[in-house]
Amino acid sequence: MSNASEFAAAQEVIPGGVNSPVRAYRSVGGTPRFLVSGHGPYVTDSEGREYVDLVGAWGPAFLGHAHPAIVRAVQEAAADGLGFGAPTPRETALARLLIERTTVHGRALLERVRLVSTGTEATMTAIRLARGATGRDLLVKFAGHYHGHSDGLLAESGSGIATLGLPGSAGVPEAIAGLTLVLPYNDLAAVEAAFAAYPGRIAAVITEAAGANAGVLAPEPGFNSRLADLVHSQGALLILDEVLTGFRVAPAGFWGLQQLAGEAYLPDLVTYGKVIGGGLPIAAVGGRAEVMDLLAPLGPVYQAGTLSGNPIAVAAGLAQLTAADADAYAAVDRASARLSTAVEDAFAAGGAPITVSRAGSLFSIAFRDPGKGLIRTYDDARDQEAWRYPAFFAAMLEQEVSLPPSVYEAWFVGSQHTDEVIERVIAALPAAVAAAKAAAPPAA
Ligand SMILES: Cc1ncc(COP(=O)(O)O)c(C=O)c1O
Repeated sequence: MSNASEFAAAQEVIPGGVNSPVRAYRSVGGTPRFLVSGHGPYVTDSEGREYVDLVGAWGPAFLGHAHPAIVRAVQEAAADGLGFGAPTPRETALARLLIERTTVHGRALLERVRLVSTGTEATMTAIRLARGATGRDLLVKFAGHYHGHSDGLLAESGSGIATLGLPGSAGVPEAIAGLTLVLPYNDLAAVEAAFAAYPGRIAAVITEAAGANAGVLAPEPGFNSRLADLVHSQGALLILDEVLTGFRVAPAGFWGLQQLAGEAYLPDLVTYGKVIGGGLPIAAVGGRAEVMDLLAPLGPVYQAGTLSGNPIAVAAGLAQLTAADADAYAAVDRASARLSTAVEDAFAAGGAPITVSRAGSLFSIAFRDPGKGLIRTYDDARDQEAWRYPAFFAAMLEQEVSLPPSVYEAWFVGSQHTDEVIERVIAALPAAVAAAKAAAPPAA
């Protein structure tokens, strides 16, 4: 069946034809590709066309699609039963692996880990824990950061909210939205002012380890560590959201990269998802034992899940993290550096320079004069000719390169994006740059 007929059929039974909004291609136009398979760096649609995939399942496909070791682990685990709703030995193994992987210079980031099914659940749990631990009600988040779709976290959020240009979501009661203070990113003075305005009321500050949901918004050097100091001096907790960055930009996530770069700090709670499930639904919240042990059944903060720690998902996660060795990180770093530079060069050569934002191996592009400097805030990210992206995206797709269907998303490179695959992407760039350059702004 063609992608168009698949989409028409889906729209009859699924709102917008998709189970997550950005998949509908609303901000880029055209028909979403309905995928039937993926192997390594490629995905194949229902018309049999094969694309170089730079969406990477929105992050989990760190080792490419259908990695043999992960597929084998899933098949073996499935043969032993699909789910029990009881503790299983592999859950302890995965928790232990997460703890080991995030111990850097002898410093343990995580003392306890609880497995959940999605990043949204992980951040929800972290926030409830912070409120339970402090007895305070307010939460600080940064504009342009995305932490999942729970009620308190959608105001000025990145990801689909940014893509669709929405202020937040209908259906969130004001009383709940009012408990979240949204501040500009990379602005410690704004955080100080919030603590001064609401003394003793802020339970936690939640921040992406490096913003990557309004395009890449890297923290300025020293921002995360100074934020940790400030938050702790006010008796609040720091929640570091590594759902996107964790185990992707480095073996110990963005936090690990920062430790190696000499920026020492310790958040109280950390959230993970995406890469730790190898493509299956698993996520985690971890942190200091003193805080984590407030979770039921030990403590008064309730959290539970029928599917939590699902044996198939845990097996996939263990296999992916085991296979994600130093060579895999080196391959992702190399492919990302090569591709991001090639994209920057292609736009410059085409007479339409853009800004490329980077955080470790994550990168995104913005149709903004590089002379304006780095993109530090959500306002910076929105200060661009985003309307040029649909033409660029469509021209790449036509040449069988599948980019994220939004200019506000990072490009997800995997270890199987070899030189040969990257060459294929680079070859497609000149025509797509020309299309972006020729694009006309929308009528006012
Ligand atoms: C930083 C961050 N936190 C949380 C989430 C939510 O994760 P999920 O989509 O698994 O609920 C995302 C998803 O993109 C994310 O990027």
